[in-house]
Amino acid sequence: MAENTTIKSMDDIVALCRRRGFIWQSSEMYGGINGFWDYGPLGAQLKKNLKDAWWNDIITCPPAGLDHNPIHVVPVDTTIIMHPKVWEASGHIGGFNDPMVDCRHCKARFRADHIDQMQCAKKPSKKPGEHTDCDLTEPRAFNLMFQTHTGAVQNDDSLTYLRPETAQGIFTQFWNVVDTSRVKVPFGMAQMGKSFRNEVTPRNFTFRSREFEQMEIEFFIHPDEAEQWYRYWRDSRYEWWQKVGLAGGNLILREHDKEELAHYAKEGAGVCDVEYRFPFTSPGYGELEGIAHRSNYDLSQHAKHCGKGDKLRYFDQEKNERYFPHVIEPSAGADRGTLALLCEAYTPTPDRKGAKAVMQFTPRMAPIKAGIFPLVNKDGMPEIAQKLYQNLRNKYTVQLDVKQNIGKRYARMDEAGTPYCFTIDGDTASDQAVTVRDRDTLEQQRISLDKVNAFLDEKING
Ligand code: GAP
Repeated sequence: MAENTTIKSMDDIVALCRRRGFIWQSSEMYGGINGFWDYGPLGAQLKKNLKDAWWNDIITCPPAGLDHNPIHVVPVDTTIIMHPKVWEASGHIGGFNDPMVDCRHCKARFRADHIDQMQCAKKPSKKPGEHTDCDLTEPRAFNLMFQTHTGAVQNDDSLTYLRPETAQGIFTQFWNVVDTSRVKVPFGMAQMGKSFRNEVTPRNFTFRSREFEQMEIEFFIHPDEAEQWYRYWRDSRYEWWQKVGLAGGNLILREHDKEELAHYAKEGAGVCDVEYRFPFTSPGYGELEGIAHRSNYDLSQHAKHCGKGDKLRYFDQEKNERYFPHVIEPSAGADRGTLALLCEAYTPTPDRKGAKAVMQFTPRMAPIKAGIFPLVNKDGMPEIAQKLYQNLRNKYTVQLDVKQNIGKRYARMDEAGTPYCFTIDGDTASDQAVTVRDRDTLEQQRISLDKVNAFLDEKING
């Protein structure tokens, strides 16, 4: 696939997402709700493919570690609502704030650190504060956690929160995993799931949403090995994003400045982001995944706050040493990742008939792996197509399309990002072969019907 570094129109990408059923506004029929998005059939499958790739490449078939043996990462699936003390211990109640300013005149609210990129609500050609009517407050801290109540009575004692990250579910189950799973440091715990942040200004399509999915790893290590493991994860996560289809030209690794460090990161510890050049950030970049050396902040905080203190230190039998492991955390967003795949794949095709654009997903990420078309709906072609479809769908998401002329069928598949289309024609019954058309090169070749399965396997997994 060609490197795709030209700046694309975000409006065109959003329009295609709507038209083809990748992403829609949540509750659209009621006018939508700001910061919430739904995935349609193609989008849901694309996001699932990204999450499956992460699960497979981290948990099922993990990469080799520093000693060249595969690393060990175990999954967990913890709850969205947790004991409120979790968020005191983690620092989220005290420190998970964005600075916010209000305009006393028009009542609009802005993130103080984003003012330069925002538009005045009354006069969009100006920035907040520039219009003569603007009357901005001083910045105030705004806690991003959504609150709710558990149980029938709503008072301070029943106050709970929707998790703003999946990481704390991992830390609070660390001791159970050590006790039950025969894991030894270094090892990782991983979880994917929904997180919620009441963002002051959700924007840029799904990039900054109020409900989103994370894919997080907490990798527990001996403190002396922090530097090596930090570098290991930084490089391996950057390579992974390239592997799933983000060309090098739009992807960077950026080490954080001191001022940017999150509340849990110790000064001097490594923190970096894998960033992608989205059309709305270009020529700058937006974060896809953060890789942070969190030291032993979370484990020691929870040990302190739950009252079990030093009893919760990890014991290394071989070294006869008791300590709180340090943590390297690669924390990725599934929705931002999906958005980056969509932006990267989008390729306008003014010369192609029918399709305004072709979505050049890698075969592994493509929501539909192949289209199957009988050239006409007679002469035994639909029956052969049906048989091929039944055969392939045991393994892959494929689509049998018999409607309209072949050009329109190709156009639909191009916009869905389907890498291969197999056409059954008048010769298929006699030569037992089909024509396969490549989405990107438009090349067509004849392959034997009994080789179609192996062909797809090689393209998707090869
Ligand atoms: N546990 C660490 C943590 O949550 P983060 O940098 O705040 O770190 C990790 O979030 C990832 O989650 C980000 O790199 C991004 O991909 C995703 N993410 C965070 N806030 C988001 C939002 N409002 N909308 C969509 N994705 C978001």
